Amino acid sequence: MRLTVIGTGYLGATHAACMAELGHEVLGVDVDPDKVAALQAGRVPFHEPVLPELLARHTASGRLRFTTSYEEAAAFGEVHFICVGTPQRKDSEGADLRYVDSAFASMARYAGEGALLVGKSTVPVGTAQRLADTHTGVEIAWNPEFLREGFAVEDTLRPDRLVLGIGSERAETLLRQVYAPVIGSGTPVVTADFPTAELVKTAANAFLATKISFINAMAEVCEATGGDVSVLAEAIGHDDRIGKKFLRAGVGFGGGCLPKDIRAFAHRADELGVSLAFLREVDAINMRRRDRVVELARELCGGAVLGARIAVLGAAFKPDSDDIRDSPALNVSARLRLDGADVTVYDPEAMDNARKAFPLLGYALSAEEALRGADLVLHLTEWPQFRELAPERARALVSRPRIVDGRGTLDGATWAAAGWEFRALGRPAPG
Ligand code: UGA
Repeated sequence: MRLTVIGTGYLGATHAACMAELGHEVLGVDVDPDKVAALQAGRVPFHEPVLPELLARHTASGRLRFTTSYEEAAAFGEVHFICVGTPQRKDSEGADLRYVDSAFASMARYAGEGALLVGKSTVPVGTAQRLADTHTGVEIAWNPEFLREGFAVEDTLRPDRLVLGIGSERAETLLRQVYAPVIGSGTPVVTADFPTAELVKTAANAFLATKISFINAMAEVCEATGGDVSVLAEAIGHDDRIGKKFLRAGVGFGGGCLPKDIRAFAHRADELGVSLAFLREVDAINMRRRDRVVELARELCGGAVLGARIAVLGAAFKPDSDDIRDSPALNVSARLRLDGADVTVYDPEAMDNARKAFPLLGYALSAEEALRGADLVLHLTEWPQFRELAPERARALVSRPRIVDGRGTLDGATWAAAGWEFRALGRPAPG
């Protein structure tokens, strides 16, 4: 089939390359000519495992192309996927829909009668119906995505489920054709009306965020009582109904999705006269974990961080990503810098992005360099290489051996045995 993908950010670039991998002819469209030129040359402008190989292979074969022209896209595709961003609005918790609205308006203008426009962006419930009512000459479907950064290709080619929000049999037939290889390999398909399809996405992210904040709230209780949240999480996770995943306590969730999605969902619920106030508490618990790290840093530095040399391991919002959007690591770093600490950050992939967004922080070229002369070390993004750090060797580099494990992945006993003052969120100090 001939498909177009409108918006070639994180989601769109991945979707376009994966659709080419499924055997379709794909045209990606973006208003940013630099992005289009990079992608057309086979270069992915962000860090995502496997995606560069797919992009290079399919742009070289010509099966995947990129353009800035909506007109060209409209003439090219049978099905048009809209993958533009829905950031948080500047003036409220709600989602900013201007890119979605303008992409649908442009495609509706150029595409012929009956063209199928498929929304993939995360939107407030009610958006698909509003667009369908506005653009009556085209057909609209909603097909949310559930990909995780770092696993984007895997999650697109082998998703847990496909959700098809459809208004007609024809839309369903076309989407089933698009995804035939994915469906053929056993992926469950859930067909739904527009509001349900939109809600599946926001509900899934709200549930994941709630799970993380639940365990982080338990970490607070553990801190107040001397309990160990990692043991607690393991024990409750043995119950299949609860499950072990997304129960890692720490400095909390960040990124371009969970924080903004729960805010937008609570905001939309208010508009609908339904209370999702608990999501505001989920958000508040999450932010309190950042406060806790700042507080621990102060405590370990004798009451104030002014003049202290603090090494921060991690800048990305999670490992296997160079994404720093709403990153807990950088939020904590910036706050300590404001309090007068001399903060040096190291991250394996996110240094360029971090430098641009937080030019006042110091940056090191390696974890070792960051640690050199530090009065305190904060472990805030759980890259596997940080787990490999040898506590003995690290001790020889720092000025004072004090570390806060904000992600719960370091072995406290080993660090303590090597002479470190070791603190972790929700866990008693070892020894
Ligand atoms: C999230 C969802 O997991 C995807 O299913 C969804 O498609 C995506 O948002 C989206 O809406 O596009 P992502 O933001 O890539 O994916 O990251 P996650 O792996 O969900 O991690 C989110 C944050 O939670 C990270 O900061 C991570 O460090 C934190 N986290 C995760 C914890 O603090 N504890 C955990 O146990 C798990």
